[in-house]
Amino acid sequence: MASINQAAWLDAIGQPLRVGSADMPKAREGEIVVRNRAIAINPVSWKAQDTGVTVQKWPVLLEYDIAGEVYEVGVGVDNSRKGDRVVACVEGPMNPDSRHGAFQLYCVAKTATVAKIPDNVAFTEACVLPIAFNTAVVSLCAPPGKGFGLPSPSLHPTQSGKTIVVWGASSSVGVLTLQLARAAGIKAIGVSSAQNFGLCTSCGAVEMLDYHEPSIVQDVVRTVRAVGGSFVGILDCVSIPNQSLKFCIPVLEHLGGGELGVLHPDVQPEVSNKITITHIFGMNEITHAFWKDYITPALEQGELKCLPEALVVGKGLESLQKALDVLRKGVSAKKVVVEL
Ligand SMILES: NC(=O)c1ccc[n+]([C@@H]2O[C@H](COP(=O)([O-])OP(=O)(O)OC[C@H]3O[C@@H](n4cnc5c(N)ncnc54)[C@H](OP(=O)(O)O)[C@@H]3O)[C@@H](O)[C@H]2O)c1
Repeated sequence: MASINQAAWLDAIGQPLRVGSADMPKAREGEIVVRNRAIAINPVSWKAQDTGVTVQKWPVLLEYDIAGEVYEVGVGVDNSRKGDRVVACVEGPMNPDSRHGAFQLYCVAKTATVAKIPDNVAFTEACVLPIAFNTAVVSLCAPPGKGFGLPSPSLHPTQSGKTIVVWGASSSVGVLTLQLARAAGIKAIGVSSAQNFGLCTSCGAVEMLDYHEPSIVQDVVRTVRAVGGSFVGILDCVSIPNQSLKFCIPVLEHLGGGELGVLHPDVQPEVSNKITITHIFGMNEITHAFWKDYITPALEQGELKCLPEALVVGKGLESLQKALDVLRKGVSAKKVVVEL
């Protein structure tokens, strides 16, 4: 019998996606199968199409960020039932088994990174969260060497006395970091374009600064001193040497040093011994507790918003190539999403 599953395959570097049939995945122990209703696109996916980064096996099904309905539940799964509306972070191309890739109608998710979504949250809204949420959690909470080792986000935050700078605050990772910093009682100063100050402030930034200003280094240094608290460092959500690091490093030097969180493993800036570079990787078991206990109630209580807003570029697997192309050109405070 023909499979009811369909997928958008990437056959090789530089090829356009090819929509075709795929095996119907089965849920094994600790897994569920989700009927995907919306997929969000992360920059790593167009980079995978261009360079093969993260791909373990060809042909491949890209992406990690899904929302949909639980279709099948594996043995030992006690937090999901068939029909539940969920958001999930799947293993995507990092798992050589294509059951885990998001670019298909049905895919497998491990229950450790699945959360129910409230009825008033659309699939196209919820799917903006997974990778950015994970990366924000790891950045803030993972122990030194993997993250900043700061207090955890909570539904009942208390002030931590800590202050950080989020460079690229209007990015997906930036917006989630601002929200989780607020929920951890951490004061976050954001750096973005001026048009996105309102969004970032609504996500919890205590001050916003525009990186287009020639005085941005002095502006950030002055603002960190004015905001006060114990300054920890900068999470650079752009992490490109000639775009953001050329500012972040002088800011840290002026402030006497601190942590510099970098999101690209291959970026290894030269810094003085006052600055500690931490390469952040969003896939980390530290996130599991937040999938279990934080995402659903935080969405229900409005403490966590599905931001940046979804930019739905089309419906159906055929629209995934367009989605990659839109994100490759760059977005401002939007998450590119395809509805299925
Ligand atoms: N290591 C990991 O685990 C991990 C996880 C997720 C993402 N990443 C990487 O992290 C980066 C961010 O991902 P994302 O999905 O959050 O990106 P994104 O949402 O696509 O980023 C778009 C934002 O970048 C901002 N931006 C662009 N150039 C900037 C600059 N020079 N200074 C400040 N802001 C600038 C723009 O801000 P304005 O419009 O306000 O100018 C825009 O809102 C990507 O390179 C991605 O590959 C790594």
